[in-house]
Amino acid sequence: MTETAMQRDRAATIFEKGKPGRRAFTPPAVDVPERPLDELIPRALRRKQPARLPELSEPEIVRHYVKLSRRNFDLDTGFYPLGSCTMKHNPRLHERVAGLAGHARLHPHQDPARAQGALALMWNLERALAEIAGLPHVSLQPSAGSHGELAGVLLTRAYHADRGEQRRTVLTPDTAHGTNPATVTMAGYEVVKVGTNADGGVDLDDLRAKADAQTACLMLTNPNTLGLFDPNIEEIVRIVHEAGATAYYDGANLNAIMGISRPGDMGFDIVHFNLHKSFTQPHGGGGPGSGPIAVSATLAPFLPQPVIVRHGGEESNGSHREFDLDFDRPKSIGRLRGFQGNYGCFVRAYAYICSLGATGLRDASEIAVLNANYLLARLRQLGVTELLPPAYDRICMHEFALSGAPMKRELGIRTLDLAKRLLDHGYHPPTVYFPLLVEEALLVEPTETETKETLDAFAQAIAEILSEARADPEIARGAPYTTPVRRLDEAGAAKQPVLRQAL
Ligand SMILES: Cc1ncc(COP(=O)(O)O)c(C=O)c1O
Repeated sequence: MTETAMQRDRAATIFEKGKPGRRAFTPPAVDVPERPLDELIPRALRRKQPARLPELSEPEIVRHYVKLSRRNFDLDTGFYPLGSCTMKHNPRLHERVAGLAGHARLHPHQDPARAQGALALMWNLERALAEIAGLPHVSLQPSAGSHGELAGVLLTRAYHADRGEQRRTVLTPDTAHGTNPATVTMAGYEVVKVGTNADGGVDLDDLRAKADAQTACLMLTNPNTLGLFDPNIEEIVRIVHEAGATAYYDGANLNAIMGISRPGDMGFDIVHFNLHKSFTQPHGGGGPGSGPIAVSATLAPFLPQPVIVRHGGEESNGSHREFDLDFDRPKSIGRLRGFQGNYGCFVRAYAYICSLGATGLRDASEIAVLNANYLLARLRQLGVTELLPPAYDRICMHEFALSGAPMKRELGIRTLDLAKRLLDHGYHPPTVYFPLLVEEALLVEPTETETKETLDAFAQAIAEILSEARADPEIARGAPYTTPVRRLDEAGAAKQPVLRQAL
C-alpha cells in the first residue's frame, strides 16, 4: 500500500469503506415457513428507506476497529496512573465469568421466576457491599459514581421531606470532585463550600460555621481528592448530624480502605461505590459503569425501587422462587433507570470480591497505599520533588497530589507539558489541574496492580523529562511527538470533535 493509500484508509470512516451489497456473514437458508412481513411488523412501524448501514466484509470490519483501537492509549498497553480514576488491571477471569451464556445472554426483561440465579448474584453482591461499607441496605441501580451521588442526595431530600422539613443547602469541601457540586445542583440544592485546613483535611471551624438548620447533607470523599485520610472524620460527621443533616460518603476512593475502615463505622448514612474503579471493570469511553449505594436503616425506605427481596421457601404452587423484585415501596424515590443496573459490572465485581475474599480486599488496599507512598518516596530520591513538591507533605493513601508551580517557575514548563511528554515515554499522564486548589496540580494514582519495576521506570521518566527541560524546555513544550494526534484544542475537541484525520 502506498503511503497515500494508507493515509486515505486511516482518514475514512466505516461508512466510506466497503461496497454496496458486501456482507460479513451469509445466513443459512430459512428452514421454517416464511410469514408475510406485514404480519410480523405492521407497515406503519416499518422504515420507509432501508437503514444506511456500512456494508463490509468481516476482515474489513476487524481491521477498521483494530486500527482505531491502536490509536488510543489503554491500560493493556501501558501504565495509567490517572489520579482519582483507579485505572487498575481488570483480571481476565472476570471476563470469562461475565461472558458465560447464563449471564451474558440473560434478557433484562426476563421474568424474575426465570432469573433466580441473576437475582441471587445481585443479592449476594448487595450483602458483600453492605459488609464492606458497614451500612446494611444496598441498591445496585445507579450506573456511575455520579448517578449514585444523585441517588444519595435524592434520598436525603426524601428523608427530610418525610420529616416535614425542607432544607436548602449541601456542604462540600473545596477539594470535592466536580461531580459532587454538580449533583447538588441537579438535585435542586445550593452548594456551600467548606475550606481545607493546613493538613489538607476539612477546616472544622469553617464546617461548624456553615452546618446549620438549612444544611440537608455533607458530601465528603475520604481519603479526599488530595489522597489524604481525614483524621477528624468522626468529629466531622458529629457536627453534620448535630445540624440534623445526612452524611454522604463519596466512595470513589474506596480503593484505599477496602477491608480496613468502613464509612458506616465512621458514622456516614449513605455511601456510593464505583464498581468500575475499586471493583475492577474496564472503564473509559463513558461506560458502562456502576455506582451502587449503601444506606443506613433510616434511609432504606427511600431507596430506588424495585428492591431485590429474598423470601426463601416454596411458592403456594410448589415452585421455588427465592428472590423477587419488590415494587411496593411507597416512600421510594422511584426508579433511577431502566432494568436493574449494568449487570455485567455486577458479575465482574462479585467475581472480584469472591476471588479475593476479605483478606484479599484488604491486601489490595494496603498495596495501593504502599505503591503510592513508594512512588512518592522514589520521586523524592530522584530529586523530582524539588520541582514537583507534594501539595501536602504527609503519608498519602492510594494517590498523591504534586504541585508543578516550582517547575513552571524554574524550568518554564507547565504540568501540561510534562503530561504530554510522558506520552512519548509510553505512559498515560496522571490527572492534571485537579484538585483545583493545588497550583499546576498533578494527581498520581499508581494502583496496587503495578510492579515495583513499573513504578521505578515511571519515576525515572519524570526525572529524565525534567533534566531534558533544564537543557531545552522547548522539547516538552512541543510534546507529544509519537502519538497519532499532537496537541489538541481540548475545549474545542469536546465541543466540535473532528472524528477523522489524515495522518
Ligand atoms: C472522588 C470522585 N467522586 C465521584 C466521581 C464520579 O464517578 P463517575 O465517574 O463514576 O460518575 C469520581 C470519578 O472520577 C471521583 O473521582
